[in-house]
Amino acid sequence: MADFLTNLREVEEEGAEVIGSAATLDDLENARIEYLGRKARLTQLLRQLPELPVEERPSAGAEANTVKRRFQDLLESRSAEIRAQSRAREAPEFDPTLPARARWRGARHPCTLVINEICEIFREIGFVRARGPEVETPDYNFIKLNTPLDHPATDEHDTFYLPGGLLLRTHTSPVQARVMEKTEPPIRIVVPGMCYRRDPFDASHAPAFEQIEGLAVDEGITFVDFKATINYFVHRFFGADASTRFRPSFFPFTEPSAEIDVSCLLCGGDGCSACKGTGWLEIMGAGMVDPAVFENVGYDPERYTGFAFGMGPARIAMLRYRVPDIRLFYEGDVRFLEQFAPA
Ligand code: DAH
Repeated sequence: MADFLTNLREVEEEGAEVIGSAATLDDLENARIEYLGRKARLTQLLRQLPELPVEERPSAGAEANTVKRRFQDLLESRSAEIRAQSRAREAPEFDPTLPARARWRGARHPCTLVINEICEIFREIGFVRARGPEVETPDYNFIKLNTPLDHPATDEHDTFYLPGGLLLRTHTSPVQARVMEKTEPPIRIVVPGMCYRRDPFDASHAPAFEQIEGLAVDEGITFVDFKATINYFVHRFFGADASTRFRPSFFPFTEPSAEIDVSCLLCGGDGCSACKGTGWLEIMGAGMVDPAVFENVGYDPERYTGFAFGMGPARIAMLRYRVPDIRLFYEGDVRFLEQFAPA
């Protein structure tokens, strides 16, 4: 029995070593034959069992079987290791059979397209781009624009107020005052930028939206200059067939004030669902700069006159690209935005 166990331990140690260090599946198969095959020493040891005294046979047999199972386990785990290693070695760095991925096509946002086009039309007739802060003071957003703080437009339902008495500008008009305070006339600017209002986010309103402000100030600017400039712009932007309509309106910072309509792009003025049967689409608010605004920025209202306008590029983009819901502009869905990529 003692000899039997000594031989068994020897075989076990040697076999475990050989199986564990097999480098290939062939090596492993050889090790299996050598340690578990018919002629293996372990098999021979098992065959010697009947020669042992009867009472020793069960425990000797159990020992031998444990070794046999250990070999089998070792063979299995080593085989898995070798296969994993060779898979890793054989895997190519990239799979040349994979189909190519479509490339994302970047596109300018439709509102940016409209802003650039509008600014370019005005640039050609002498207007430069100006910018102003989106976080404003009530002074610039309202008071300097002849809008007292008890005016309905300042109602907190329309304005996002920030801590410290600041607010998010509700229009780009405050940039008029900022530019006039720093610059002597003549002034011709267009001011694109974001504005914020506590409006519901629905098909025709967004709480954050673009505006383009325009301002021209000089000696001798008249309503004729105002009308001619707007008409020129509308023809350039909407086409020679487009007509304009100036509707009397009210803004605190212009006198007289107008809302300007363009003949409906879809029906040409006959009346359709886009223009609610009127044949007209509103595109901007505008007017002659109120003398009170000039006084507020330190200009002599006796000497200078001017006109101003404000329009919404998103609304205009809706008309131009036939987009039925303004929210599409602000959801950042690439499937929508991609469509504005140049062909
Ligand atoms: N600021 C106005 C608005 O947000 C739009 C506007 C109207 C701008 C008349 C102007 C203007 O410059 O003259 O509704």
